[in-house]
Amino acid sequence: MIELRDLRDEDEGVLFQWRSEPEVDRWMSDADLPSREAHAAWFKALRTDPDMRGWMIVRGDAPMGLLTLTGLNSHHRRASWNWFLGTAEARGRGVGRAAQVLGLDRAFGELGLHKVFAEVMADNDAALKAQSSAGFRREGYLRGHVLKDGQPRDVVLLGILASEWTELREDARRALSDANLIAA
Ligand SMILES: CC(C)(COP(=O)(O)OP(=O)(O)OC[C@H]1O[C@@H](n2cnc3c(N)ncnc32)[C@H](O)[C@@H]1OP(=O)(O)O)[C@@H](O)C(=O)NCCC(=O)NCCS
Repeated sequence: MIELRDLRDEDEGVLFQWRSEPEVDRWMSDADLPSREAHAAWFKALRTDPDMRGWMIVRGDAPMGLLTLTGLNSHHRRASWNWFLGTAEARGRGVGRAAQVLGLDRAFGELGLHKVFAEVMADNDAALKAQSSAGFRREGYLRGHVLKDGQPRDVVLLGILASEWTELREDARRALSDANLIAA
């Protein structure tokens, strides 16, 4: 079963390793790979700053990736979604699909958000497909929006509203529990 669990002290090391993986870093808008110190400060903020939430995506006890929501203090009750699975073996097997359903339930249930949005690099086929399948809609196309390794990259803006998730969640949860990916 795939679950989201709160961050623990021991996650800091594996998250540093994953954030340094080329197949993760290439899709992140961060200017550079984080130093160990910058990573530690980011990890601490994820656990303590009320503007942010982060969960490990786990299968059983095994950490597979990270999901974060940032901008939670916004008056607008919206937050920015970011996520990755740390290793190639974890990807393309439905883990992301399950993590999205669990994450959207947290966002719109526990956190009471009105909207979740994401900025996805325009050539990130996996993320665009996965997020569209979960119900994110395309809201915009931002040309040369981020500089990655000195190169301007286009970004697709995706968003999903609480009312849309209410319509989708039951079928999405059922499909995943039928596939033994999440608990019923
Ligand atoms: C994006 C990511 C989290 C998706 O998780 P995943 O476990 O690989 O995705 P899943 O196997 O659950 O697939 C979800 C959907 O995306 C599709 N998909 C997955 N990988 C794909 C790929 N490489 N190309 C096209 N579609 C893909 C699947 O077919 C599936 O579609 P469906 O729900 O209609 O059947 C994961 O690939 C990843 O960590 N990528 C690297 C980091 C990254 O890009 N993060 C996002 C930054 S915005």
